[in-house]
Amino acid sequence: MTGNFAVLVVDDEELYAQAIGTELSRQGLQSELAFSASDALARCGTGRYKVILLDHRLPDDDGIRLIPQLLARQPGAVVIMMTAHHTIPNAVSAMRQGAEDYIVKETSLRPIIDRVLEMKRRDEARAGSEGWQEHRKDGLLGGSAGVMAVIEQLDKAAMSPETTVLLTGETGVGKEVAARYLHNKSRPDSSPFIAVDCVALPSNLIESLLFGHEKGSFTGAEQSRAGAFEEAGRGTVLLDEIGDMGEVQGKLLRVLESRVFQRVGSMKEIPLKARIIAATNQDLKQLVDKGAFRQDLYQRLSVFPIHIPPLRGRGEDILLLAEHFRAFFAGKMNKDIAQLGDEVSQRLLGYSYPGNVRELKNIIERAVIMSDSGRIDPKHLPGRVLADPARSEGMAPSIPFDFKPGVDTLESLEKRMIEHAMTQAGQVKTEAARLLGISRFQLLRRLERYGIRSPAAGSDPHDA
Ligand SMILES: Nc1ncnc2c1ncn2[C@@H]1O[C@H](COP(=O)(O)OP(=O)(O)OP(=O)(O)O)[C@@H](O)[C@H]1O
Ligand SMILES: [Mg+2]
Repeated sequence: MTGNFAVLVVDDEELYAQAIGTELSRQGLQSELAFSASDALARCGTGRYKVILLDHRLPDDDGIRLIPQLLARQPGAVVIMMTAHHTIPNAVSAMRQGAEDYIVKETSLRPIIDRVLEMKRRDEARAGSEGWQEHRKDGLLGGSAGVMAVIEQLDKAAMSPETTVLLTGETGVGKEVAARYLHNKSRPDSSPFIAVDCVALPSNLIESLLFGHEKGSFTGAEQSRAGAFEEAGRGTVLLDEIGDMGEVQGKLLRVLESRVFQRVGSMKEIPLKARIIAATNQDLKQLVDKGAFRQDLYQRLSVFPIHIPPLRGRGEDILLLAEHFRAFFAGKMNKDIAQLGDEVSQRLLGYSYPGNVRELKNIIERAVIMSDSGRIDPKHLPGRVLADPARSEGMAPSIPFDFKPGVDTLESLEKRMIEHAMTQAGQVKTEAARLLGISRFQLLRRLERYGIRSPAAGSDPHDA
């Protein structure tokens, strides 16, 4: 159905945009045109687009900077950058901002139209497979150095489609999101992405889920069935919670090495064409040391490890994701909820997110449900987020939780906290001491010990 598939063309060269629009409608596709960033944002506030064709240079803003805002308003849309030859490096950074791809502008519109048609086919293929839509809406969002590094590694891995990738990270950091990103990047046709959750499954069931089985190969096997490795074709199989795989580890290792497998109860060798991604929130190395995970499989999986850092400390991502989820849930619930204000942002920045992005998503969903004032107030946040006001004042994001021995010492943190308090207190020592919960005298001693001076050193006119 073409009715659902609308394209937004954002380009200040009006003739060019119109030409694309005409060509799209000749292909039976609906489109709307925007000639500036503000126009694009306005349209994204009301319309629904599957694809946004976005020019790099717009009169009122930079196209790349616009991407997260467009995606936040249009969760589920795909952004394709249109770029001139000499701006390709920028196009790559556009992809880091969430663009799906870039196309070099040429006189022929053919490549652009083809790309849109391809997106349409993909959209149709995916609409059929369950659970996909929900995930598609999320993409891999983030702007912090940590997420950039992850995306860079995923992009590298995408270039070698047979390499097995190991995704590690705490619960809810986005391992599955990353796996889907890698899948989309390396398998742009419509081959499926299949996730197999190894938790709490008996070994023989995992085995048959992965490799398939022949009729009668075990009690209850009334029909022959293909497993995930076969069904995925040239797509991707995500082995989630690989640490819980149990006895199948040995078989899996052999398959990864030989790239052939057999259905349970069959001798016929089937070539493995899919990419395998393993994910875990456990420390596999530790499992190996305890004898709970095979050393050889661990080594095999560690060829291309990608670690996704926890959300705490990724201040930039916290705000970006919070804003994205606000727009997403507001849209879903048909509510008008304004962008997050300063106070709520500060509270969100100060929280430690043991459940990572999943927890932040739930927090925002709940807040959008609770709000009846058209905006999210601190009172809409759960108590645990508000619990520790000292940490909610913008300090926590800069605290490193992946400690570097000898660098992130208690002393160095204390020093940073004091500097931060001084900045926030506008260099007024009495106020900084109050923020830190110590006496002015204790503060003075520490300022001296750490050699901290206010920027206007010596004179301290505001001091009380
Ligand atoms: N970078 C991101 N951008 C957008 N959404 C994200 C991102 N990371 C995670 N999410 C969302 O957070 C939730 C948890 O992500 P996901 O399921 O990928 O985590 P996980 O690491 O696989 O967790 P677990 O270890 O519990 O399986 C999902 O709803 C996902 O859409
Ligand atoms: Mg997961």
